[in-house]
Amino acid sequence: MDKFLIKGPSILKGQVSISGSKNAALPILASTLLFDKPVTLKNLPRVRDIDTMLNLLRSLGSKIEFFDNKKKVRISKTKKQKYFASYSLLKTMRAGILVLGPLVAKHQKSITSFPGGCVLNGNSGRPINLHLNALQKLGMKFSILNGYIHASSKGKLKGKTIKFPSISVGATQHLLISSILSDGTTILKGVATEPEVVDLINYLNAAGANIKWVGKRTCQIIGVNSLKETNYTVMGDRIETGTFCVAATLTKGNLLIKGFDPSLIKTELDLLKKTGAKIKILNQEIHIKGPQKIKKINHLVTKEYAGFPTDLAPQFMVLLCKANGRSSITENIFKSRFMHAMELQRLGAKISIKNNQATIEGNTNFIGAEVMSSDLRASAALILAVISAKGISTVSRVYHCDRGYENIEKKLKKIGVNIKRIS
Ligand code: EPZ
Repeated sequence: MDKFLIKGPSILKGQVSISGSKNAALPILASTLLFDKPVTLKNLPRVRDIDTMLNLLRSLGSKIEFFDNKKKVRISKTKKQKYFASYSLLKTMRAGILVLGPLVAKHQKSITSFPGGCVLNGNSGRPINLHLNALQKLGMKFSILNGYIHASSKGKLKGKTIKFPSISVGATQHLLISSILSDGTTILKGVATEPEVVDLINYLNAAGANIKWVGKRTCQIIGVNSLKETNYTVMGDRIETGTFCVAATLTKGNLLIKGFDPSLIKTELDLLKKTGAKIKILNQEIHIKGPQKIKKINHLVTKEYAGFPTDLAPQFMVLLCKANGRSSITENIFKSRFMHAMELQRLGAKISIKNNQATIEGNTNFIGAEVMSSDLRASAALILAVISAKGISTVSRVYHCDRGYENIEKKLKKIGVNIKRIS
């Protein structure tokens, strides 16, 4: 149960290199179950969720070879293919469910545990009905027993037209992966268009799949018989980039952020400009300077891409605590994603929550305190708040942070933060 001990306030200066994208790499890794040939992936982030997915693939019989300090991995098939994805591996990471479809598509069977992951919907949990209903349309049969999905199909899955009733990043990625070896053509309507979905499609097409965008939220997948040996470099992490951009804006900082395509986060950068940040874009680099006074944003609403991402709402809440006036955030993707608000109040924030809307009083001077992370992005928000707080703070349960931020304390130390990990 590591903690971070942080002495603030800090003004951030220097360079940050963004790691590979966790949310792009996870579905790409799951899809390797479809291959008879080796897949080599570069720019993998060294975070716990990637380790969990690699352990899951290993438990299903894949051979995993590491290179370049584990940032490059070669995944190949062995004779010992297995079909059981255990609760012990899926309980910490929702994306583990993405092995179900490829196992059924490739081997016509799987027993996969229901997934766990960040608690972002309060009591209603994070259902997978959109995944299961769509896989059923491709011909997967399943029954649920003791928390496991017992799934099978008679022969290959069959291409169909599927319209998602609501937009889901995970269900979109799952059906893209599960339909590329199907008989015939699949049309997916109402899909997510997040950059991580586009990165998955680019990689699958590089491997010999036949996926086309035929509408703003419609994909056509013509089934192929097999996939070829593939080398692919995973995109940079969009949310890590946004987190460091907020960090610079929050602390009157001056950062050069490398390793991410800035054109993919236009919405976030335009919002930070509104708060007063000075931003210059140079090729794959973002030069961002924080303002002396942070301007408020009246009303922030989380939406599917290219709207404002829910995974950056906690970090922006910290920024708005310091802005010159009242702001509000409406969370539309998850039912209750304000666990961090209570902890921010321990640092002096004034935030009131009503249903899925948070009203934030600005002009807060954070004072150091002990705070506790509740999920991955909440932990990032708390770290940002204590970096700008006066005095000493501890952030506990940083295992949440380790799930999706690579070496965050090392990166922060390099740009001027007084931070220490306490085991
Ligand atoms: C992905 O989660 C990301 N995770 C999340 O990031 C991100 O918050 C989310 O997309 C939205 O952008 C990964 O990529 C690994 P959804 P996912 O399916 O796929 C409901 C992070 O911090 N829903 O788009 O699980 C669901 O409950 C994580 O890195 C159903 O009701 O999100 C939610 O309210 C946190 N039934 C909404 O749809 C389903 O079958 C959107 O979820 C599926 C989803």
